[in-house]
Amino acid sequence: MTANGWDERYRGEEYVFGKEPNAFLKQEAHRFEPGGNVLAVADGEGRNGVFLASLGLAVHAIDASSVALEKSAKLARDSGVEIELELADLSDWSWPDAQYDYVVAIFIQFADPAGRARLFEGMQRAVKPGGLVLLHGYRPEQVDLGTGGPPQREHMYTRSLLLEAFSDFEIVSLKEYDAEIHEGQGHHGLSALIDLIARRPAGDP
Ligand SMILES: C[S@@+](CC[C@H](N)C(=O)[O-])C[C@H]1O[C@@H](n2cnc3c(N)ncnc32)[C@H](O)[C@@H]1O
Repeated sequence: MTANGWDERYRGEEYVFGKEPNAFLKQEAHRFEPGGNVLAVADGEGRNGVFLASLGLAVHAIDASSVALEKSAKLARDSGVEIELELADLSDWSWPDAQYDYVVAIFIQFADPAGRARLFEGMQRAVKPGGLVLLHGYRPEQVDLGTGGPPQREHMYTRSLLLEAFSDFEIVSLKEYDAEIHEGQGHHGLSALIDLIARRPAGDP
């Protein structure tokens, strides 16, 4: 879907993926040290970025939809936190080197395999040595379940795909499971999920 397509989907008062943080992120909240900084990749309407800010993190949230970012700014105001918002297309964004303690990417399966490889490379570059990447998304089985996410099977993640893509990182956790999720109207019902938490080696130059 294009940025305009996302703008259309996000238009209106309702938060398409809800205002509550993603369950995986909430469950892993203990991993975040207050005072650290985090890049929220394709953060949409801000439910996850705002949650991370509420944990005492400095949040830099990026998304290609201006409508999403307006809603994210409102959610941050209403929640009494600040987040830095940037309107950008991540397919041609200049990923910084070793800038963030954490990189969080929740349901960023808009990218085809080539685009996904560039996204993962950028995320790995942007996190500091010793820092964590937290990635959450769907497995290929999700396409048959049809309860959220794009219809393209090749956009989904498998265990072997993530192990290969993050082979230079320490795998802290990699879990595949099915769960009922209810995140606004966007993600609703039994879902085929996969989570990765990976650490950039501390001595990485
Ligand atoms: C499924 S939504 C997930 C949003 C958010 N991470 C969440 O979990 O609520 C996917 C997001 O990717 C954004 N997106 C799609 N293509 C993008 C691109 N090329 N660059 C940046 N963001 C993009 C969309 O605007 C949308 O907000």
